[in-house]
Amino acid sequence: MRDMYISSRVAGLKPSGIRKFFDIAATMKDVISLGIGEPDFDTPEPIVEAGVRSLRSGETHYTSNAGKLELRQALAEHLERLYGVSYDPSSEIIITVGGSEALYLSATALLNPGDEVIIPTPCFVSYQAEVILAGGVPVEIPCRMENNFDFDPKEIEAAITSRTKAILLGFPNNPTGAVASRESLLEVARMAEAHDLVVLSDEIYDRLVYDWKHVCFPSLPGMRNRTVLMGGFSKDYAMTGWRIGYAAGPADILKGLVRVHQYTVMSSPTVSQTAATEALRNAEPYVQQMLAEYNRRRKLIVKGLNEIGLPTFEPRGAFYAFPKVSVTGLDDETFANRLLQEEHVAVVPGNSFGLGGEGFVRCSYATAYDKIEIALERMRKFVNRL
Ligand SMILES: Cc1ncc(COP(=O)(O)O)c(C=O)c1O
Repeated sequence: MRDMYISSRVAGLKPSGIRKFFDIAATMKDVISLGIGEPDFDTPEPIVEAGVRSLRSGETHYTSNAGKLELRQALAEHLERLYGVSYDPSSEIIITVGGSEALYLSATALLNPGDEVIIPTPCFVSYQAEVILAGGVPVEIPCRMENNFDFDPKEIEAAITSRTKAILLGFPNNPTGAVASRESLLEVARMAEAHDLVVLSDEIYDRLVYDWKHVCFPSLPGMRNRTVLMGGFSKDYAMTGWRIGYAAGPADILKGLVRVHQYTVMSSPTVSQTAATEALRNAEPYVQQMLAEYNRRRKLIVKGLNEIGLPTFEPRGAFYAFPKVSVTGLDDETFANRLLQEEHVAVVPGNSFGLGGEGFVRCSYATAYDKIEIALERMRKFVNRL
């Protein structure tokens, strides 16, 4: 084995629990996957057409490091219109390779070795890893089902030390579907001000909320100038394969992100930038159609899981349900493994998402309605046998 060549920072990362399940599921026939964290919809037609036109017209070159100004302008207008928060497109927005790169840039540009980042969990699997790769220390605050998977601001406050540099929020949340309340977010704002912290707010599911209002963190009083807002096109516009996202923040912080981006990827895919501009300008009806379909599936899956006897919080955003499987007497890992082997349904064990995820599994409803019906039937059989 030549593991000794791998740096200790990388060797210390645990492999993503999601990948492991995909790999097993890929070897089996007839699997219904509720494991996937991406829309099952193809990218809406006008966006695809804009991409094709872009390539045909010779847009096959780099763009400026921060991205096409046209897209940054469209994003600035979009954020102003939706949330009333304003960014200067020339110095306060950067176009990235997915929301993933925005996370990487934020961690790399902001963290010194040993800096602590407070993260309410369960959360997207990359948060802790990005902090560790940048030399920082993730400090997890578990969110609980009894509290609608919102965080308890008192627990965040208790975790703040002289080494705390940032608070990393991911709402609407993957994997729980929680949407943080305005009151909790205002408490974070107060703490950020009192302790001079930066807030990293990953709002990639901002448009996918159901009968609920998403609060854009930098729109809270005083927060624009200490927040890096991260977002993307993968989820809201079904554009995962285009690899396109963004970060927005005050110019003095943004310039650090641009510097890292400059030396790592230079510029995001040009074709995707043109397609994303079209998405912002003309794809709203498609977003609403997809949202309506997710909502239909959300109702089906939440009702179905609760009827099976797996207590499930009604998600308010994103496209995941997060049933409590510990009530069956199995831990989440065993539950997911056996469900896959015995009934060919793939879900992701909650412990992959950090503290607070143990005892739950993530079921994505970015899967066709009739497939969810079959998956629920199989899960019912499985749970009844236990
Ligand atoms: C909460 C969250 N943030 C960021 C991402 C990254 O998405 P992308 O890099 O495709 O924009 C994901 C993807 O699953 C996610 O769930």
